[in-house]
Amino acid sequence: MSVPMEISVQNLTDLAICEQNGAAPPPPPPPPSATTVPEDKILVPVEVCLKPSSTARADEVGSAVERMLEKRSLSYSDGPVPVPIDDMFLVDNVQRIRICETDDGVKDHGVLLFWQVKPVVHVFQLSEEGPCEESSTDGQLSSFHEWILPAKEFDGMWESLIYEPGLKQRLLRYAQSALLFTEKGVDPFLVSWNRIILLHGPPGTGKTSLCKALAQKLSIRFNSRYPQCQLVEVNAHSLFSKWFSESGKLVARLFEKIQEMVEEENNLVFVLIDEVESLAAARKAALSGSEPSDSIRVVNALLTQMDKLKSSPNVIIMTTSNITAAIDVAFVDRADIKAYIGPPTLQARYEILRSSMQELMRAGILSDTQELGKVTLPNYATAQERQVAQEPEIAELCKILLEAAETCEGFSGRSLRRLPFLTHASLADAYSCDLAKFLCTMIDTAKKEWSELPD
Ligand SMILES: Nc1ncnc2c1ncn2[C@@H]1O[C@H](COP(=O)(O)OP(=O)(O)OP(=O)(O)O)[C@@H](O)[C@H]1O
Ligand SMILES: [Mg+2]
Repeated sequence: MSVPMEISVQNLTDLAICEQNGAAPPPPPPPPSATTVPEDKILVPVEVCLKPSSTARADEVGSAVERMLEKRSLSYSDGPVPVPIDDMFLVDNVQRIRICETDDGVKDHGVLLFWQVKPVVHVFQLSEEGPCEESSTDGQLSSFHEWILPAKEFDGMWESLIYEPGLKQRLLRYAQSALLFTEKGVDPFLVSWNRIILLHGPPGTGKTSLCKALAQKLSIRFNSRYPQCQLVEVNAHSLFSKWFSESGKLVARLFEKIQEMVEEENNLVFVLIDEVESLAAARKAALSGSEPSDSIRVVNALLTQMDKLKSSPNVIIMTTSNITAAIDVAFVDRADIKAYIGPPTLQARYEILRSSMQELMRAGILSDTQELGKVTLPNYATAQERQVAQEPEIAELCKILLEAAETCEGFSGRSLRRLPFLTHASLADAYSCDLAKFLCTMIDTAKKEWSELPD
């Protein structure tokens, strides 16, 4: 990735003035000089999702999208790019195009202009197959689920998860570096790194979702190196809670299966071990004598198998836990990146609620807001800057939404995503409710939820 460059304020101002006057934009600026901007451009990922029916070659679609982007001559910001209707090849094959992570290249709400950017196009097609389930011989215990990535089921999950700025990017960059080091053959005796991630924090903060979304993102970003990707979700809790006599066999079978996947070097395999604290609980129970001693053998077998897997370059192990204190020390030590995922900040709460409101409006559940028609609620930064002051109705909606986000302090992402549903269910006249009234009711519902939380 190149070094973020400073953006010339002069050029941005020129562009803004031209837009206001309706005049043609200025000619492209001269090539950046070494004194003002670094030579290399900023790499910006552009994700291109093919239609399920498309049989076009990814490289041909990629080149067509690159040509289209070159012609656009516009600024780059995160979000969808319309598929040009006059390009029949793209119209026939492409479902959507999305620019990602421009925030990396700009500071303080700046804009990236086309000449500063080198788009890196990733073309992919979603797998429509659902998860495969593996169960024990007696058919009672499901030990893992397996998905082919990128999966339709996880589409949009990454974008829907909202955290403080930088958290998702840090995880993505970490995983990208780990895969790059492996690909370039860096000697692990000289520079050591693992491919184990641990996300820990209170319940409902999106840890499991974030792992799945990260696996999906990486499967898209690395699809030219690894054309096949799989996600294996292991529920540690179901492995260790009961049937210890079965657990040994389950672990062995699970890792045999993973090993098979990993042997194919074009496969990128993500292993998600959810609720990993149950490992520690099983070991502790075994040591105290309250569980059969083979439970400890199972935990140890799992750790040994994980160590073995570590030497395979094409595996990333992702783990989650609700209680960090209870996780096996031997385990925590193995994780390279340990990220605390806490309850959403005010900004994240605002954005979560805002996206839920937009979705209810899109689905027609919340209809027009009196005379406003379809409303686009401003994002947090805009709402904070009061740039919406010229439209009093929107400014008022922002104020109530902010108040709702403030009221929800301490709520998990899960509770926040549920709140609009509870609000709707509590309304007697839900069909004739406008957005302002809905938001006010949501504040009351949040207060009620808060008062009913256990101490
Ligand atoms: N920060 C967030 N932004 C948006 N949605 C979120 C956020 N945190 C949680 N959610 C939503 O809450 C739901 C639950 O998330 P998930 O199951 O991944 O949480 P978890 O941390 O794994 O919970 P647990 O600890 O109980 O296993 C998901 O549907 C997710 O969309
Ligand atoms: Mg979870």
